[in-house]
Amino acid sequence: MLNGKKILYSGMQATGTLTLGNYLGALKNWVKLHEEYECLYGVMDLHSLTVRQNAAEFRKNARSLYALYVAAGLDPEKNCIYYQSHVSGHAELGWILSCFTYMGELNRMTQFKDKAAKHADNINAGLYTYPVLMAADILLYQADVVPVGVDQKQHLEITRDIAQRFNALYGDVFTVPEAYIPKAGAKIMSLQDPLKKMSKSDENANATILLLDEKDAVIRKFKRAVTDSGCEVRYAEDKPGVSNLMDIYGCVTGKSYEEIEREFDGRGYGDFKLAVGEAVAQELEPLQKKYREIMEDKSYLDSVISANDEKAAAYAAKTLRKVQKKVGLTEKLRRS
Ligand code: TRP
Repeated sequence: MLNGKKILYSGMQATGTLTLGNYLGALKNWVKLHEEYECLYGVMDLHSLTVRQNAAEFRKNARSLYALYVAAGLDPEKNCIYYQSHVSGHAELGWILSCFTYMGELNRMTQFKDKAAKHADNINAGLYTYPVLMAADILLYQADVVPVGVDQKQHLEITRDIAQRFNALYGDVFTVPEAYIPKAGAKIMSLQDPLKKMSKSDENANATILLLDEKDAVIRKFKRAVTDSGCEVRYAEDKPGVSNLMDIYGCVTGKSYEEIEREFDGRGYGDFKLAVGEAVAQELEPLQKKYREIMEDKSYLDSVISANDEKAAAYAAKTLRKVQKKVGLTEKLRRS
């Protein structure tokens, strides 16, 4: 608990730009959570180092992600939005927790197996201990709930296991976090292969809408989106392409499946795809405008970042100190 509210923690990796899937599936739904929870959101730049980065581009991407959080409506006064690497406690707690995590557990992580297959030339130890750092992120802030997609569920499970193991040894040090299941939001699929999740690393640029895509590109990509046989706009399991577009349209307009089906009754896919493209472009326009304003206002962004870094660091220090004491690390003495 913090300020009388439960604590919610989440974050995204600081690589590349965000997709419409990140936005509709996560970010857009985070905006109101501060009403109910004390919310912390990290720009997870340490995690991004598990894959080789170009330093200049990486720095830009991390700042861009911060600005996108704010542009999407996360108020930096009401949420603690900060850089993971600016709070040294993440790495410090990560080390301690790695001594309470078994290789057998890490060997079971499916994301490690996937990523190792994808980056066969760089299977580094960080990629392997990635879940331990993620556990440190969450436990450092005593988070009660963590909104995560299905791909991160296993990492949340191991976080709970580590917390419970530590608590069994040292008393109630960590809050054991629960997955936060959002009330709204959908899993957005690729526009080119609706059985695959929309991903920023997709080789086919037409598969993914990026949050900073211009209107023309958005419309073009939706026009080219893969649909299914038949010509009816109907939500159905055997119509994954159309259903995905309906999810997207529903998320941005607030319309139900029935309303969408009625709206496009007898109108065919062409009309529908154009309408989805227009609606998405319209949704993204104010976000992009705000993004540009924030990126141009260097002193505003800098001051927001440093204020939030400080808030996060103060809170993290409390947990870290407690953990260091519990495991028996000697206290640093102050010179008198
Ligand atoms: N691993 C998460 C992802 O790729 C990002 C992340 C890092 C995270 N630490 C976290 C998410 C802590 C939630 C909580 O999506």
